[in-house]
Amino acid sequence: MGFTAAAGFVFLLLSLSVVQGQNDWGVTFTSTRICAVEGSTVDIHCSYRYPSRINGNVTVVEEVLWFIKVKENLPVDVRTDSEFAGRVQYDGDKNDCTLRITDLKPSDSAVYSFRFITNQPGGRYTSEPGVTLSVTVFQVQVNKPYPKAYPTWAVLTCHSSCQPFNNPSYIWYKNGLKIQEDTSFIEQYFDEADSISCAVKGHEKFSSPSVCVLHETCNRVIYTERSVCVSKGSSVNISCTYNSYYKVTSKFWFRPERGPQWKNPSQSEDLRTDSQYTGRVQVFETERGRSTLRITDLRETDSAQYQFTFRTSYFEWGSSLHGTTLTVTALQVQVIRVTLLQSYTEAELKCHSSCGSAGRLHYVWFKNGQKNKTQQTSTYTDHFYPGDNVYCAFRGHEDYPSPSVYPSIRPSVLVSPSEIVEGISVTLTCSSDTNPAAKYTWYKRNQSLPLSSGDIYHFTSISSEDRGIYYCKSEDHYSVDVFVDVQYPPNLPSVSVSPSEIVEGSSVNLTCSSDANPAANYTWYKENEESPKASGQIFTITDIRAEHSGIYYCEVQNIRGRHNSTLHLTLSTVSPFLRNLTTKMNRIRLSLVVLMLISLLPLTLWLRKKTTPLHSTTEPTGCKDNIELDACPAHEDVSP
Ligand SMILES: *[C@@H]1O[C@H](CO)[C@@H](O)[C@H](O)[C@H]1NC(C)=O
Ligand SMILES: *[C@@H]1O[C@H](CO)[C@@H](O)[C@H](O)[C@H]1NC(C)=O
Ligand SMILES: *[C@@H]1O[C@H](CO)[C@@H](O)[C@H](O)[C@H]1NC(C)=O
Ligand SMILES: *[C@@H]1O[C@H](CO)[C@@H](O)[C@H](O)[C@H]1NC(C)=O
Ligand SMILES: *[C@@H]1O[C@H](CO)[C@@H](O)[C@H](O)[C@H]1NC(C)=O
Ligand SMILES: *[C@@H]1O[C@H](CO)[C@@H](O)[C@H](O)[C@H]1NC(C)=O
Ligand SMILES: *[C@@H]1O[C@H](CO)[C@@H](O)[C@H](O)[C@H]1NC(C)=O
Repeated sequence: MGFTAAAGFVFLLLSLSVVQGQNDWGVTFTSTRICAVEGSTVDIHCSYRYPSRINGNVTVVEEVLWFIKVKENLPVDVRTDSEFAGRVQYDGDKNDCTLRITDLKPSDSAVYSFRFITNQPGGRYTSEPGVTLSVTVFQVQVNKPYPKAYPTWAVLTCHSSCQPFNNPSYIWYKNGLKIQEDTSFIEQYFDEADSISCAVKGHEKFSSPSVCVLHETCNRVIYTERSVCVSKGSSVNISCTYNSYYKVTSKFWFRPERGPQWKNPSQSEDLRTDSQYTGRVQVFETERGRSTLRITDLRETDSAQYQFTFRTSYFEWGSSLHGTTLTVTALQVQVIRVTLLQSYTEAELKCHSSCGSAGRLHYVWFKNGQKNKTQQTSTYTDHFYPGDNVYCAFRGHEDYPSPSVYPSIRPSVLVSPSEIVEGISVTLTCSSDTNPAAKYTWYKRNQSLPLSSGDIYHFTSISSEDRGIYYCKSEDHYSVDVFVDVQYPPNLPSVSVSPSEIVEGSSVNLTCSSDANPAANYTWYKENEESPKASGQIFTITDIRAEHSGIYYCEVQNIRGRHNSTLHLTLSTVSPFLRNLTTKMNRIRLSLVVLMLISLLPLTLWLRKKTTPLHSTTEPTGCKDNIELDACPAHEDVSP
């Protein structure tokens, strides 16, 4: 059974394979009746066959198409039907005719038929009857015997228009919070502010809309979209409508798995205070009861589920109901097939994203910087001359395209994900026109031995040592180089003071250093002072005075994180009397130098000690073994 998790929620009404056709011609479906939930993705699994030769002539498939309508006796390809724009996918390669429809709508309910046409005389085949798809929504039905009384006893059932064989187990949510499992109905007392939603276990993402049990102004949150996929670097708007029965005291958007740092991790944190989103998040309410979260400068690490909540003095909207899933992807052009012809190549390209089954996706293709106005699917086949380049983008996000590619006979390398952080799993895929029969070998620059063979090179948990240039070889062709950059947050900075002997009035450098990728920026703070003292690795204090003593922090930050170390700068104050005495003594010493040399010697030694009254110790927070020793001295306390 081939339903992937991405396929969303599907009931198979008939799960036996259905083989149609006779002799060597035919189509096989895994199921001929499928029920799926609105908003989810369905894969209609299909394979087809035909005689490889007829009378010695090789059979070539010329056309494959899925259709639900027939116009003037001709079937209409669903790929050209505007109702399905950006939502259908199939390629018909290698006898596989599986049709994927994303973001299902109730109007997609229809009988889907597959047809293929070959070069042989009369060599065409149409599946009869085809696959019946029903798209349903789950709905909570309320039965309240005593509608006027509050609170009221009510019986609720979870209803769908598909009647599946095996009763699925349901999950119930009251005011956004999971309350019950495994029962197809619930009965209990309800308050006028209560709302209820139900879902099928394992497919919580496709829960029913929340319905008011008793009163139309109950507490509710309804997300506009279940999933959104956008390009890295661009911006996204995620919105919901909400209603509160009581006066709202606070409301915000959050990521369920991210608690506030250093605080209670089970509590949800307003994204506007989350350091990962600093300066990138806005929340606006253009109309009452409709909240929009806007995230700009999107990173792949922003891929997550986002939820909205509101609080009143008595109540908080629950966080068990699924919100909107955002996928941030870096597009890449993958060369699927290249055929070398006389003066040009014919290449089949695919705009690769990690969107999976998210929503509707419209692509645009650019050849030598010119937009192709007819090509809107994720694949694109065209002729290319040497030097021609091509890239793809999502429609409406043309400013955030994939890198451009020169379609050629060389194998291409796909790096996934494109944003690599230490510790994550990374896959490099090598593909070429002879894929998958080709023999692949992986190399890393400056390593004499090949890394491995096979089209995939996988890092389970990538480390900074894996940073470098990689390339692959397929048959006799080498791919272009790809640079795998591994990012990591700054490690604990080491701090030091120079010179080690400090004289009042002189210039002193506080130095901080830490390893990070990308290179970190440095900020110096002094204890109890809001604004930073300086930025940069070296903080120079010219004309150092006693008032400069205190605790300094060096904060190191890059996009992956931050770290800080503490430095104690201790300056002992010499009292004005002693300073005066010192000066006087110096004068006396000068005039009486010869006479009093011997008797003053002990005093001079004592005074010299006093001219270096400044003393510093450094103490990075949480010194570890890997920190240089001089950055971590024991805290000495030398008082003059
Ligand atoms: C092969 O196909 C060609 C053209 O389609 C036809 O003229 C020829 O007769 C076929 N050969 C045989 C052996 O049927
Ligand atoms: C998001 O909403 C803002 C304000 O309504 C609008 O200016 C912007 O174009 C929207 N962005 C996207 C990506 O839809
Ligand atoms: C657009 O793409 C199609 C292939 O899908 C190709 O035949 C056509 O020449 C392209 N048009 C332009 C203007 O490049
Ligand atoms: C590979 O070695 C050459 C010469 O030894 C050096 O210049 C180059 O920077 C190295 N490249 C990498 C990626 O380490
Ligand atoms: C402080 O750093 C600056 C800049 O690197 C350098 O020119 C100067 O000599 C340093 N001073 C001391 C006292 O180390
Ligand atoms: C330091 O780097 C972080 C992350 O890249 C950035 O948000 C911050 O604005 C930078 N600070 C300075 C002072 O450049
Ligand atoms: C330094 O880091 C600690 C936690 O490691 C944090 O509590 C403290 O606020 C940080 N100090 C500054 C000045 O950023």
